[in-house]
Amino acid sequence: MTSEQYLEAIPPEKREAILKVENVRKAFGGLIALDGVSMEVEKGKVTIIIGPNGSGKTTLLNVVTGFLKCDSGKIFYKGKEITNKPPHEINRLGLVRTFQIPQPFYNLTVLENLLVASRYNIGESVLNAMRRSKWIEYEKRDLDRATEVMEIVNLSKVADQQASKLSGGQLKLLEIGRALMNGADTIFMDEPVAGVNPSLAHEIFSLIRKLSKEKEMTFVIIEHRLEIALGYVDYAYAMAKGMVVAQGRPEEVVNNPVVIETYLGG
Ligand SMILES: Nc1ncnc2c1ncn2[C@@H]1O[C@H](COP(=O)(O)OP(=O)(O)OP(=O)(O)O)[C@@H](O)[C@H]1O
Ligand SMILES: [Mg+2]
Repeated sequence: MTSEQYLEAIPPEKREAILKVENVRKAFGGLIALDGVSMEVEKGKVTIIIGPNGSGKTTLLNVVTGFLKCDSGKIFYKGKEITNKPPHEINRLGLVRTFQIPQPFYNLTVLENLLVASRYNIGESVLNAMRRSKWIEYEKRDLDRATEVMEIVNLSKVADQQASKLSGGQLKLLEIGRALMNGADTIFMDEPVAGVNPSLAHEIFSLIRKLSKEKEMTFVIIEHRLEIALGYVDYAYAMAKGMVVAQGRPEEVVNNPVVIETYLGG
């Protein structure tokens, strides 16, 4: 079934929203960055958020993942209210973000970066870590998982390479890998293919598509490079001046006159 057939087969009220944003507002002083944003993100799907520079996309990501507090509105993830909860709490529910500029530990290797991102890592429970048998159990589990994740994100060949030596595209793959180690079931990504060469950009979106199809993972992706992204996404939201101005099937949204106008109008 194609994504279009899927959307047609299930009426909107029956589709399962894993993430709901209700009328969220956020101002920076006098500047209204989010002016009553509402969104519903369907589980196991790839949703793209487009919009001109400064339209509020990254601010929305920051608010949803707890990196910024909103002024009003509500956010729900898996039915639980997460409005203005701290990032680690939201993270623990399985909603993980990536950054516009990747933030790995540059002096650590790919494998080490994955291991420190593990949800079962030492920080999780110091007490457990001190009990040596548990500690070894965690280490083995982490190593097995990291090996599996490197296969998934196609970084096995550079397992022992320092993150500082990776290409921009490989860093983005590492970010996805770190989110997987972190136990993410939803990944909210800020411009995952910005500055990445076209073939690696397609590889990244193919991986996103595959994870959503095969593992029922949910992706919300902010992206400007529509020529690359559009073929891989199920649903689109367009923002302008802190508001949602259109939503629907990707090809409809990008051809919507209001959306075209927002880009031309700057
Ligand atoms: N921490 C901040 N303090 C003050 N203003 C901010 C802050 N963060 C964002 N803004 C402003 O809020 C508005 C929305 O910014 P935001 O970064 O969310 O846009 P964006 O849609 O992600 O843009 P881009 O496509 O360029 O990344 C902009 O006018 C921006 O200057
Ligand atoms: Mg941004």
